[in-house]
Amino acid sequence: MLLCLALAAQALLVSAAVAADSTTVIRSALQNTVDCPSCLGLLTSLKPVAQSGNDALITQLTGLCIQLGAADPDVCAGVVEGAGPVLGQALRQINTTGSTAERLCDALMGVCVSKTPTAFTVKFPKPAPAHPKIFKSRGRAPFRVVHLSDVHIDRQYTPGSEANCTKPICCRDFADSPTVPTLPAGPNGNSHCDSPVPLADSMLAAIERLKPTFSIFTGDVAERAVWLVNQSDVYADLHDFNAEMASKLSAPIFPSIGLRCFPFFCRSLTSSMIGNHDTSPVNLFARTTSNTVNNSQWVFDIQSSDWERWIKGSAASQVDHHSGSYSALVSGTNLRIMAVNTQYWYKQNFWLYDSDVQRPDPNGIISFMVDQLQAAEDAGERMWIIGHIPIGGGDLSNYYNQVLQRYKNTIAGQFFGHTHGDQFQIAYSNYSDQTAHTAVSAALIVGACGNPAFKVYDIDPDTFEVMDSSVFFTNASDAHFQVNPQWSLYYSARETYGPLVGLSPREPLSPAFWHNLTEVFQTNDTEFQTYNARISRGGAVSACDATCKNTTICDLRAFRSENNCDTPTPGLSLRRRTRGDSHGSDACEGTGIAQIFSNMVSVLG
Ligand SMILES: *[C@@H]1O[C@H](CO)[C@@H](O)[C@H](O)[C@H]1NC(C)=O
Ligand SMILES: *[C@@H]1O[C@H](CO)[C@@H](O)[C@H](O)[C@H]1NC(C)=O
Ligand SMILES: *[C@@H]1O[C@H](CO)[C@@H](O)[C@H](O)[C@H]1NC(C)=O
Ligand SMILES: *[C@@H]1O[C@H](CO)[C@@H](O)[C@H](O)[C@H]1NC(C)=O
Ligand SMILES: *[C@@H]1O[C@H](CO)[C@@H](O)[C@H](O)[C@H]1NC(C)=O
Ligand SMILES: *[C@@H]1O[C@H](CO)[C@@H](O)[C@H](O)[C@H]1NC(C)=O
Ligand SMILES: *[C@@H]1O[C@H](CO)[C@@H](O)[C@H](O)[C@H]1NC(C)=O
Ligand SMILES: *[C@@H]1O[C@H](CO)[C@@H](O)[C@H](O)[C@H]1NC(C)=O
Ligand SMILES: *[C@@H]1O[C@H](CO)[C@@H](O)[C@H](O)[C@H]1NC(C)=O
Repeated sequence: MLLCLALAAQALLVSAAVAADSTTVIRSALQNTVDCPSCLGLLTSLKPVAQSGNDALITQLTGLCIQLGAADPDVCAGVVEGAGPVLGQALRQINTTGSTAERLCDALMGVCVSKTPTAFTVKFPKPAPAHPKIFKSRGRAPFRVVHLSDVHIDRQYTPGSEANCTKPICCRDFADSPTVPTLPAGPNGNSHCDSPVPLADSMLAAIERLKPTFSIFTGDVAERAVWLVNQSDVYADLHDFNAEMASKLSAPIFPSIGLRCFPFFCRSLTSSMIGNHDTSPVNLFARTTSNTVNNSQWVFDIQSSDWERWIKGSAASQVDHHSGSYSALVSGTNLRIMAVNTQYWYKQNFWLYDSDVQRPDPNGIISFMVDQLQAAEDAGERMWIIGHIPIGGGDLSNYYNQVLQRYKNTIAGQFFGHTHGDQFQIAYSNYSDQTAHTAVSAALIVGACGNPAFKVYDIDPDTFEVMDSSVFFTNASDAHFQVNPQWSLYYSARETYGPLVGLSPREPLSPAFWHNLTEVFQTNDTEFQTYNARISRGGAVSACDATCKNTTICDLRAFRSENNCDTPTPGLSLRRRTRGDSHGSDACEGTGIAQIFSNMVSVLG
């Protein structure tokens, strides 16, 4: 880290004469960034720097980040080094005042935000059947499924190290750590840190004791020390956690691709030091149309081979050939699970801004979904969709929603992670008329931040609908937590929410149920505040006043980004997210290039 810093400083000196001018220009452009036109102006002033090479861009941005104290020097160096080449490519290839540049400004700064999606009509092989297959419950005993996500295991977590540091995550021996920690990290974790291995192990043991029929895992394995992690670290993280799940859980697991840390800032194997950026960037998930090598194939290769033990051969081969997405039948049932790689829909994947050509279906993920859903409909199967990032906030939510409406009779459940909050999102057949009657699907989101947790679903074996959703958690404030984390039931949605909406005994937790619950939240503030605290299992609860409540309920009802109520604060792209927001909260994410830009703007502003 100190090496990177020294090299960055040296590079600044060597090219000082040339760079001084552009440094002044960029600094003043950053200072002036308050709205959309000024952000486009910033991109325009960065473009000539990018044109003189990624090294120049990285040197400039790293230097400014350090100078302005936007983050610790090692964080500045690592983050800019990782994302710089991708940003550089975008700046060279796009019109910096055009519509792609506006989307880039939205991702970087929370300005130029447009809620109107580019019109695109998804094509379907067949119209919806006039008489769709009815899946009818015979009232048999439900089976149990566990949903876990966002484990963020830090294999370099060091008990006794500083837990209250100035970096995005703590509890590691950093080169600049104090010799005597002010707050020593306990063996089982701390809220400023990612998970130590023993905490993850105790969670897997708790899951095993519940004897689920199978589990779903919606991604994010690696630690958030994104400014340090390189490709070999991530390779090991993925492989180790796959091996741990395989050895500690006896039932199959249906996993999906997460985002740590490939879409962000992982250093490449070949450019682990500042000064060597001319190799193809391997950081974020490039699109098949990107002018680069097939840079995420190594992720799909590992997962394809590691997951084959659970999802079997043909699905494993899909992982390799459909950018990490697959569909697999659950053995002995006619439930099919489709895992979709949501990275190509993620605003912070800066490869999405590398061309002015509109790509409504990057890497063909939407067409893959349509093919799999049509085959499932034809075969009379039911489908669950699992993925990392909930759909409601993304650019492509409009297109995904079209698929959902077409196959609503086939899709019995949707499950996501990423926000680190216990949340849900409802889709409607008519978003101008949001009622129990028009609610067509509900996506369930599992929490990770706050007190550690996973969910247990009771599933009807005929309809594959969710009969109950229970959160299990371990209380990090509990006296035993550092000795032996105890995992227990936090609450059951059926038990606690059922009576509030008058749910009858054999009804599932249907989209109508979730809609009716949002109506209870609207009229009963006590119930709403209880929900707000449950998002994080009572850990680090953020207050939610009337405006926040209005936004939160609006967002629970918004499966399309044009319907959500997020109001970004310019220059604070990552801070605009509140805990109650299920649309891609980055509150618990690591520091990224957008955070660095936002910090630089606020220091100057
Ligand atoms: C860039 O985009 C702006 C805004 O859409 C447009 O006015 C301008 O003509 C474009 N420039 C080029 C070179 O295409
Ligand atoms: C963490 O450090 C900050 C200052 O760096 C201090 O204000 C805060 O009280 C510390 N928190 C704990 C829990 O020690
Ligand atoms: C990746 O980082 C780890 C430390 O996190 C280091 O031990 C390893 O040598 C690095 N690998 C490469 C290829 O840079
Ligand atoms: C990457 O290349 C492999 C063949 O090596 C191909 O099967 C796969 O579809 C490609 N993936 C992407 C995202 O381009
Ligand atoms: C959707 O709801 C609005 C408001 O109730 C109504 O005016 C409109 O006709 C509905 N659209 C459809 C397609 O039913
Ligand atoms: C939802 O509320 C409507 C009335 O607004 C009621 O007809 C329906 O039975 C309720 N459904 C559930 C599942 O709670
Ligand atoms: C809100 O819900 C609580 C708990 O269920 C209940 O005690 C209270 O009476 C409700 N308040 C209103 C205004 O309905
Ligand atoms: C967690 O433990 C603390 C300390 O015992 C307690 O105050 C808090 O209510 C517990 N939280 C939950 C959700 O049970
Ligand atoms: C939010 O506020 C707006 C206007 O203030 C109102 O029309 C809307 O019904 C509110 N939504 C909720 C969910 O309370």
